[in-house]
Amino acid sequence: MNATPNFDRIARLYRWMEWLSFGPLLHRTRTAWLRELFEVRRALILGDGDGRFTRDLLRTNRQVHVHAVDLSAVMLQELRRRCRPYTDRLVITQDNALNFVPDASYDLVATHFFLDCLSEAEVEQLVQTLLPSLTDNARWLVSDFHIPQQGAMRPIAALLTRILYAAFRLLTGLRANHLPDHTSVLQRAGMVCIRRCVFLGGILISELWQRP
Ligand SMILES: C[S@@+](CC[C@H](N)C(=O)[O-])C[C@H]1O[C@@H](n2cnc3c(N)ncnc32)[C@H](O)[C@@H]1O
Repeated sequence: MNATPNFDRIARLYRWMEWLSFGPLLHRTRTAWLRELFEVRRALILGDGDGRFTRDLLRTNRQVHVHAVDLSAVMLQELRRRCRPYTDRLVITQDNALNFVPDASYDLVATHFFLDCLSEAEVEQLVQTLLPSLTDNARWLVSDFHIPQQGAMRPIAALLTRILYAAFRLLTGLRANHLPDHTSVLQRAGMVCIRRCVFLGGILISELWQRP
């Protein structure tokens, strides 16, 4: 298992670092399927970070209850501050998502730029642990970086992800060094990708998976 990273020291700058490197694109990727989530009632957001997606979900869906999990205390302070108007529908847990034991049933799991902090074996462990706590038609929303199979963007994406992993290793101690194949893991778990869109020539993906 990878040693746990520490995002505390970049938590308050994270949003600005993101804006300076990718402008609005990462947030567009996170929220690409927000309009598909009006029916969601209980969401689990893993590696939630500073809570920008969670705030938008709570704002647009007045019935949803969110459980946000993250390792970083400072990220969670940012999240709590940002989601203050919705505290009655929000539970926050500071924990390693890999050790998190669900105590409810969820109809949505969201992992935005989080699975890339894990190895494929850890993604597998996470999915297998959560499966019993998902409702029958539960959905799993994934935003992440992606290396296209072919085409001009492939070498650019490969170089960009190497640079990003090196930067996050330096800044947070992240041990992961390549993108896990979440597609195979979710397919093995019986889930089907029902919506997919890409940004930046395929370097960013937003996928909505469903348990059939
Ligand atoms: C790259 S940031 C993404 C944050 C947010 N989801 C977003 O879209 O901006 C990764 C987040 O995952 C958290 N994290 C990394 N490994 C974790 C783990 N094993 N368990 C829980 N949180 C973790 C970090 O603290 C950080 O907030």
